[in-house]
Amino acid sequence: MSVVGARPNFMKIGPFAKAIDRHNQKVGSGAGRLLEHFLVHTGQHYDESMSSSFFDVLGIPEPNVNLEVGSGTHAEQVGRTMIAFERVVRDWRPDWVVVVGDVNATCACSITAKKENLKLAHIESGLRSFDWTMPEEINRLVTDRLADLHFTPDRFADANLTNEGVASDKIHCVGNIMIDSFVEHTDRAKRIDLNDLLQRNQLEEARRTTSLSDGEFAVLTMHRPSNVDAAETLGPLVDYLVTSFSKETPLVWALHPRTLGRLREFGLWEQVKEAPGIHLINPVGYLDMLRLNLGAKLVLTDSGGIQEECCVTGTPCITLRENTERPITLAENGGVSYLAGNDVGVIRRLCDELIDAPRLPLQLPLWDGCTADRIVTVLGSLTD
Ligand code: UD1
Repeated sequence: MSVVGARPNFMKIGPFAKAIDRHNQKVGSGAGRLLEHFLVHTGQHYDESMSSSFFDVLGIPEPNVNLEVGSGTHAEQVGRTMIAFERVVRDWRPDWVVVVGDVNATCACSITAKKENLKLAHIESGLRSFDWTMPEEINRLVTDRLADLHFTPDRFADANLTNEGVASDKIHCVGNIMIDSFVEHTDRAKRIDLNDLLQRNQLEEARRTTSLSDGEFAVLTMHRPSNVDAAETLGPLVDYLVTSFSKETPLVWALHPRTLGRLREFGLWEQVKEAPGIHLINPVGYLDMLRLNLGAKLVLTDSGGIQEECCVTGTPCITLRENTERPITLAENGGVSYLAGNDVGVIRRLCDELIDAPRLPLQLPLWDGCTADRIVTVLGSLTD
């Protein structure tokens, strides 16, 4: 039984579901072990643009059940998920529960699985920002403390788990499963017309008629509470983007629902909406985001997954965070991303430095499109 809840989970479960199908085809009716897969969507994300569009494009099977927990505080989301998921596992008694990433669904279902004495595997295990103010860090710590099997993306994750006392036979370094989606879908993304993408996704209220060309624009995504929940932080960021950055470089800003809400709440919306260099679009689907990344000269983001995708596309990335649970993406470790936090002075200096930097695509060990197959091989060889 695998679990998804929020947007960053979908590009990780797509390859997993397909690898199970490939495994079962190979096993056929002969020797080996067929794996029955039951997919649970907790319903943490539910908008078409935050959820179902990803299922369609990534070819993820229809979830067997949707818990429809929806939005709420962390305790509300985790609590509702645990209550609903408990019923599902009691009905189905899976041999293994497989969770991915670090969202509230990951943590809630991990706790429930272990309280029901079920085996738990965690994909994208071992990431640590060491910042306990991040809700995702709490989710990662709890999930990894409970997991019976850890599928890790890189050597940094292995070292974190080892330092926390996880036995080496529970750790399988399999690579980055999200990059499986990248490898599978990047050719489709390349075929998308940039201006058609902008038209399709543009925010009705902030229509732009100007067209953009590859290599001339930057992309921004920002949704973390640490960046958008306080007017004292979001205000100066918006000021820099509107009065300075977007005057030099057209900026495509894909607005997460939380961010849009905060811009309105803090009285910043008119300023953003009227800025001629800012192209406001709705949260975009998987292929469209990949297409934007491939055409951008610079990415500014507080997303974890986009930092990783930038390493593969080679687009210079300014990470709007003080720390990252993905140190492999950092320039100091050979990656393309630079930590900027939300200090406008630092962001401005990095933008000036990186705006004309060359694109440097990287091939990281085991980020090769075959991670899900490696995971399923391990699961298929388990004896209990
Ligand atoms: C969640 C994850 C975060 C991930 C992000 C990607 C946790 C703790 N956080 O944060 O790690 O980077 O997803 O998007 O799990 N909303 C909608 N429609 C939706 C979903 C949400 O409008 O389909 C709005 C609601 O107002 C909601 C807010 O967005 O309250 C935040 O959603 P939530 O799921 O609580 O957290 P994210 O910020 O999306």
